[in-house]
Amino acid sequence: MEKLNVVDLHNEPYRLPDLVVRVRRDLSSVGYVVFRNFSRGEENVRELFLELCSELGRLVPHNHEGNIIWDIKPRENNTSAYATFSEHNQAAFLHTDSQYSADPEDYFGLLCLQSARCGGGSSTLLALPHLLRELMRTKKGRRCVEVLQKQKFRFVAPSVFAKTRDAKYVEHYILKNNCIRFRADTIEEGFRLFPGYLLQEAEAAYYILKNAIQNSKKIIHFNMDNDDLVFINNATVLHGREKFEDKQRHLLRIRMKVD
Ligand SMILES: [Fe+2]
Repeated sequence: MEKLNVVDLHNEPYRLPDLVVRVRRDLSSVGYVVFRNFSRGEENVRELFLELCSELGRLVPHNHEGNIIWDIKPRENNTSAYATFSEHNQAAFLHTDSQYSADPEDYFGLLCLQSARCGGGSSTLLALPHLLRELMRTKKGRRCVEVLQKQKFRFVAPSVFAKTRDAKYVEHYILKNNCIRFRADTIEEGFRLFPGYLLQEAEAAYYILKNAIQNSKKIIHFNMDNDDLVFINNATVLHGREKFEDKQRHLLRIRMKVD
């Protein structure tokens, strides 16, 4: 199994500039980094998180109200499988964030305030270089990569999934310049709403990729404990999580653009 890239800050005195350097370095090489004991007992953990993210890039609001810090918590009465993953407690298949927007964030951080105490909710990560190496081993996989780099797909925004052609979507490559944009349900909703938009070969290539992601030997599984902070490169690492029951599970997310 892949080893987790993790740093325990418990007994390690650090300065903010050192953390910034470490995150930047790891996000461009490994694609993610996990910090254990991020706040080291400090109460102003939200501010510490915000301060670090502000140094890493331009902060990207989550909505029109301009909220920079987003609470990831199951919302009462939200049972829709097409709701955003941050608002329900179901499993989230490996994906990148904001794949249905014109300009997805480059990085994001997730800070765990309250881990799931039910034993569920564990996190998964899969780095694109590993996935590509697995695909390039077979002729079918190589062809799949070639097709996905040439063909734009329609990614339908989950919040406005509709039965009509009025659905909001963006057209983009799934694979381009060693970056990935992927979320199975937003892509498959595009197949359903726009039949005939794609050649059969492109749709088949998508399912080969999905299968390769699902069965990758390089998926990392880990549990986020309270005060753990993970930073993820949204263009090179897929992330997901298992289903959980504990409605008190609570993470904070901050998105960043590196201009
Ligand atoms: Fe996500």
